[in-house]
Amino acid sequence: MTKRFLFLRSFLKNPGVIGAVTPSGSSLAELITSDLGPATGTVLELGPGTGIFTEAALKRGVPEKDLILIEYVVDFARILQMRYPQARVLCMDAEQLGTALPPEKRLGAAVSGLPLLNMRGSKIETMLRSIFAHLREGGALYQFTYGITCPIPRHILKRLDLKASLHGRVLRNIPPARVYKITRSNHRPLRDLAR
Ligand SMILES: C[S@@+](CC[C@H](N)C(=O)[O-])C[C@H]1O[C@@H](n2cnc3c(N)ncnc32)[C@H](O)[C@@H]1O
Repeated sequence: MTKRFLFLRSFLKNPGVIGAVTPSGSSLAELITSDLGPATGTVLELGPGTGIFTEAALKRGVPEKDLILIEYVVDFARILQMRYPQARVLCMDAEQLGTALPPEKRLGAAVSGLPLLNMRGSKIETMLRSIFAHLREGGALYQFTYGITCPIPRHILKRLDLKASLHGRVLRNIPPARVYKITRSNHRPLRDLAR
């Protein structure tokens, strides 16, 4: 089964979870992984789907063993584990991320393909708390969206002391997309965010 067909079939079964009819294109994958490299350290990927961002991260030199992939759909998780046997693939809801990552785990970066526009604010906030509780100083979350503004509500960014900046736009994607880079706005102790 091709990746596109599997993706479309999954979308038809559960459109709200998948959030797109087709996997992202290579230009978007290049943009969202553009800050990653061999020295990034552990990279957390949320909602990898059929792995287009995963592949781009590997091409940029992130070692496979440094990848943690969090995917909700079993068929996708199975394919990812087969294709990337050294990566840690967790088939789970990203909302439960806090229980999956050991407290001492420090992430270099996080990349997200999650359809945040389809999610309730409280879920987004819980995920962000877990991500930033584990991201090391200077680490960032890269999130794409088909919208024209950051898909994380402003009041959530403010409550968590985070800021979002436009990392770039990709017209050559169906539909065109933007990538936002989310970072801490000041140096609040990491454990304060875990709650
Ligand atoms: C828009 S697709 C993006 C897939 C891939 N990153 C790409 O760009 O082609 C959204 C992905 O997020 C996954 N997903 C949605 N909600 C999730 C959740 N709560 N936890 C983990 N994965 C989730 C979906 O199964 C799907 O693989």
